Amino acid sequence: MASTKNERTFIMVKPDGVQRGVVGDVIHRFEQRGYKLVALKMLQAPRALLESHYEEHKGKKFYEILLAYIGSGPVVAMVWEGLNAVSVGRKMLGATDPAKSEPGTIRGDFGIVTGRNIVHGSDSETSAQREIALWFKPDEISQWTHTAEQWIY
Ligand code: PPS
Repeated sequence: MASTKNERTFIMVKPDGVQRGVVGDVIHRFEQRGYKLVALKMLQAPRALLESHYEEHKGKKFYEILLAYIGSGPVVAMVWEGLNAVSVGRKMLGATDPAKSEPGTIRGDFGIVTGRNIVHGSDSETSAQREIALWFKPDEISQWTHTAEQWIY
Protein backbone atom coordinates (compact mmCIF):
# COMPACT_ATOMS: atom_id res chain seq x y z
CA MET A 1 0.00 0.00 0.00
CA ALA A 2 1.31 3.47 -0.86
CA SER A 3 2.34 5.47 2.16
CA THR A 4 0.22 8.46 3.06
CA LYS A 5 2.35 10.70 5.21
CA ASN A 6 1.55 14.26 6.07
CA GLU A 7 4.95 15.82 5.54
CA ARG A 8 6.83 18.91 4.46
CA THR A 9 9.08 19.37 1.48
CA PHE A 10 11.56 22.07 0.52
CA ILE A 11 10.97 23.55 -2.94
CA MET A 12 13.20 26.26 -4.42
CA VAL A 13 12.70 28.24 -7.60
CA LYS A 14 16.24 28.61 -8.94
CA PRO A 15 17.63 31.88 -10.40
CA ASP A 16 16.60 30.92 -13.96
CA GLY A 17 13.04 30.26 -12.79
CA VAL A 18 12.95 33.68 -11.13
CA GLN A 19 14.42 35.41 -14.22
CA ARG A 20 11.96 33.67 -16.51
CA GLY A 21 8.96 34.67 -14.41
CA VAL A 22 7.70 31.23 -13.44
CA VAL A 23 7.60 31.73 -9.66
CA GLY A 24 3.84 32.28 -9.78
CA ASP A 25 3.32 29.21 -11.93
CA VAL A 26 5.29 27.00 -9.52
CA ILE A 27 3.30 28.32 -6.56
CA HIS A 28 0.05 27.94 -8.48
CA ARG A 29 0.75 24.30 -9.33
CA PHE A 30 1.43 23.37 -5.70
CA GLU A 31 -1.65 25.28 -4.51
CA GLN A 32 -3.80 23.76 -7.22
CA ARG A 33 -2.59 20.27 -6.34
CA GLY A 34 -3.79 20.82 -2.77
CA TYR A 35 -0.57 21.54 -0.92
CA LYS A 36 -0.31 24.11 1.81
CA LEU A 37 2.34 26.85 1.64
CA VAL A 38 3.84 27.23 5.13
CA ALA A 39 7.01 29.24 4.42
CA LEU A 40 8.38 31.40 1.60
CA LYS A 41 11.29 33.80 1.14
CA MET A 42 13.32 35.34 -1.66
CA LEU A 43 17.06 35.60 -1.15
CA GLN A 44 20.41 35.62 -2.87
CA ALA A 45 21.86 32.54 -1.22
CA PRO A 46 25.33 33.00 0.29
CA ARG A 47 27.97 30.48 -0.75
CA ALA A 48 28.10 28.91 2.75
CA LEU A 49 24.39 28.10 2.59
CA LEU A 50 24.77 26.55 -0.87
CA GLU A 51 27.78 24.52 0.27
CA SER A 52 25.66 23.08 3.09
CA HIS A 53 22.63 22.54 0.88
CA TYR A 54 24.60 20.68 -1.80
CA GLU A 55 27.19 19.06 0.53
CA GLU A 56 26.52 15.53 -0.80
CA HIS A 57 27.68 16.67 -4.26
CA LYS A 58 30.98 18.25 -3.16
CA GLY A 59 33.76 16.95 -5.40
CA LYS A 60 31.49 16.02 -8.31
CA LYS A 61 32.40 17.57 -11.63
CA PHE A 62 29.30 19.76 -11.75
CA TYR A 63 29.64 21.00 -8.14
CA GLU A 64 31.25 24.42 -8.81
CA ILE A 65 29.04 25.01 -11.85
CA LEU A 66 25.99 24.21 -9.75
CA LEU A 67 27.01 26.56 -6.91
CA ALA A 68 27.79 29.38 -9.38
CA TYR A 69 24.39 28.86 -11.05
CA ILE A 70 22.31 28.80 -7.86
CA GLY A 71 24.28 31.72 -6.42
CA SER A 72 23.97 33.82 -9.58
CA GLY A 73 20.72 35.54 -8.59
CA PRO A 74 17.84 35.47 -6.15
CA VAL A 75 15.98 32.23 -5.49
CA VAL A 76 12.55 31.68 -3.97
CA ALA A 77 12.68 29.15 -1.14
CA MET A 78 9.47 27.53 0.03
CA VAL A 79 8.11 24.88 2.35
CA TRP A 80 5.01 23.00 1.21
CA GLU A 81 3.02 20.68 3.44
CA GLY A 82 0.56 17.86 2.78
CA LEU A 83 0.19 14.14 2.14
CA ASN A 84 3.28 12.67 0.46
CA ALA A 85 4.54 16.17 -0.29
CA VAL A 86 8.10 14.92 -0.95
CA SER A 87 7.33 12.22 -3.53
CA VAL A 88 4.42 14.03 -5.18
CA GLY A 89 6.47 17.24 -5.24
CA ARG A 90 9.31 15.46 -7.06
CA LYS A 91 6.83 14.12 -9.63
CA MET A 92 5.48 17.62 -10.16
CA LEU A 93 9.03 18.91 -10.77
CA GLY A 94 9.89 16.17 -13.30
CA ALA A 95 13.24 14.50 -13.96
CA THR A 96 16.48 16.31 -13.04
CA ASP A 97 17.28 16.56 -16.76
CA PRO A 98 14.41 18.59 -18.26
CA ALA A 99 14.96 16.90 -21.62
CA LYS A 100 13.80 13.67 -19.92
CA SER A 101 10.93 15.31 -18.00
CA GLU A 102 7.39 14.59 -19.08
CA PRO A 103 5.37 17.48 -20.48
CA GLY A 104 3.04 18.61 -17.70
CA THR A 105 5.83 18.66 -15.15
CA ILE A 106 7.49 21.96 -14.25
CA ARG A 107 10.83 21.06 -15.86
CA GLY A 108 9.08 19.32 -18.75
CA ASP A 109 7.14 22.49 -19.47
CA PHE A 110 9.87 25.08 -18.93
CA GLY A 111 13.32 23.51 -19.24
CA ILE A 112 15.69 21.92 -21.70
CA VAL A 113 19.02 21.36 -19.90
CA THR A 114 20.03 20.18 -16.40
CA GLY A 115 22.17 23.27 -15.90
CA ARG A 116 19.00 25.43 -16.03
CA ASN A 117 16.36 23.16 -14.55
CA ILE A 118 14.18 25.82 -12.90
CA VAL A 119 13.43 24.20 -9.55
CA HIS A 120 14.81 22.09 -6.73
CA GLY A 121 12.78 19.70 -4.61
CA SER A 122 13.82 17.52 -1.67
CA ASP A 123 14.43 13.89 -2.67
CA SER A 124 13.50 12.26 0.66
CA GLU A 125 11.86 13.11 3.95
CA THR A 126 15.27 13.16 5.62
CA SER A 127 16.60 15.61 3.00
CA ALA A 128 13.47 17.72 3.36
CA GLN A 129 13.94 18.05 7.13
CA ARG A 130 17.61 18.93 6.68
CA GLU A 131 16.97 21.45 3.91
CA ILE A 132 14.05 23.14 5.68
CA ALA A 133 16.21 23.58 8.80
CA LEU A 134 19.01 25.07 6.68
CA TRP A 135 16.87 27.62 4.86
CA PHE A 136 14.28 28.55 7.51
CA LYS A 137 14.25 29.35 11.22
CA PRO A 138 11.43 27.59 13.08
CA ASP A 139 9.56 30.89 13.56
CA GLU A 140 9.57 31.51 9.80
CA ILE A 141 7.31 28.49 9.28
CA SER A 142 3.61 29.22 9.70
CA GLN A 143 1.08 26.98 11.35
CA TRP A 144 -2.29 27.54 9.76
CA THR A 145 -5.38 25.56 8.90
CA HIS A 146 -6.05 24.85 5.27
CA THR A 147 -9.83 25.08 5.17
CA ALA A 148 -9.95 23.18 1.87
CA GLU A 149 -8.31 20.08 3.38
CA GLN A 150 -11.62 18.32 3.98
CA TRP A 151 -12.32 18.61 0.24
CA ILE A 152 -8.83 17.60 -0.88
CA TYR A 153 -8.50 14.43 1.19
S1 PPS B 1 23.88 12.71 -8.85
O1 PPS B 1 25.34 12.73 -9.03
O2 PPS B 1 23.19 11.71 -9.67
O3 PPS B 1 23.52 12.60 -7.41
O4 PPS B 1 23.43 14.15 -9.31
P1 PPS B 1 21.99 14.59 -9.73
O5 PPS B 1 20.97 14.03 -8.76
O6 PPS B 1 21.75 14.31 -11.17
O7 PPS B 1 22.10 16.15 -9.53
C1 PPS B 1 22.38 16.68 -8.26
C2 PPS B 1 22.13 18.18 -8.28
O8 PPS B 1 23.04 18.81 -9.17
C3 PPS B 1 22.34 19.48 -10.21
N1 PPS B 1 23.16 19.33 -11.42
C4 PPS B 1 23.62 20.35 -12.16
N2 PPS B 1 23.45 21.67 -12.04
C5 PPS B 1 24.05 22.47 -12.96
N3 PPS B 1 24.79 22.00 -13.98
C6 PPS B 1 24.99 20.68 -14.13
N4 PPS B 1 25.75 20.24 -15.14
C7 PPS B 1 24.40 19.78 -13.21
N5 PPS B 1 24.35 18.43 -13.05
C8 PPS B 1 23.61 18.18 -11.96
C9 PPS B 1 20.99 18.81 -10.29
O9 PPS B 1 20.00 19.66 -10.84
C10 PPS B 1 20.75 18.53 -8.81
O10 PPS B 1 20.36 19.71 -8.14
P2 PPS B 1 18.86 19.97 -7.66
O11 PPS B 1 18.90 21.29 -7.00
O12 PPS B 1 18.51 18.84 -6.74
O13 PPS B 1 18.06 19.97 -8.93
